[in-house]
Amino acid sequence: MTADNMKKAAALEALKLVKPGMKLGLGTGSTANFFIEALAAKVKKGLDVKCVPTSKATRDLAEKLGIPLTTLDAHPHLDLTIDGTDEFDADFNLIKGGGGALLLEKIVASSSAYMAVIADESKKVKTLGKFPLPVEVIPFGIKATAWKIERAFKFLKMESKMTLRVKDGKPFRTDGGHAIIDCALGEIKEPQRLDNLLNSIPGVVDTGLFAGICGIVFVGTPKGVKEFKRKK
Ligand code: A5P
Repeated sequence: MTADNMKKAAALEALKLVKPGMKLGLGTGSTANFFIEALAAKVKKGLDVKCVPTSKATRDLAEKLGIPLTTLDAHPHLDLTIDGTDEFDADFNLIKGGGGALLLEKIVASSSAYMAVIADESKKVKTLGKFPLPVEVIPFGIKATAWKIERAFKFLKMESKMTLRVKDGKPFRTDGGHAIIDCALGEIKEPQRLDNLLNSIPGVVDTGLFAGICGIVFVGTPKGVKEFKRKK
């Protein structure tokens, strides 16, 4: 079974959470795209939903497929967000932002009554940190901000290797016009504490750590989709 088959199977399982009339957050990335395609098929058959996209790419795809879109300003409280992830652990902590959409993804997910994550089994980890943590920063004064980020890692006694994300030979820019510093950390033992500390640095817009936001993970495996649900 390919990773794509597992992602698709997880997406189809998550679709079962969607009920008529819901306001949905639509995630970003290859796994979220499978969900968006499956949702579009249901919309074509008459399902009534309104969706808030988490990136320009997701907006474009949803529009192309005829999914009704809305904004967080029109609907500040969503019923459900469905998104992919770069990593998840047994405590439902996530690292996101491999595609650079972490900020809007976090705003939308944290405005939703429930966040469902869809993933293939390669995303499951014992401890977060194999995937470099994306930290979104304001381009102004980026070296000063990077120095403070490094100092925060040292304060928490974490080894770090920080790399400015580059695309097509130029510094990568998010949909919000910010830069991303990818921080290879090895192991993140206290995700919430690290997220709080990094978010206290002027110039840091947000991090790809999602702690206490995700309620359920659907994991595609060669033996079918496994469901992990957080206890309230
Ligand atoms: C986008 O910025 C990310 O948070 C994605 O949700 C994450 O990278 C997962 O993407 P894939 O589904 O493409 O692996």
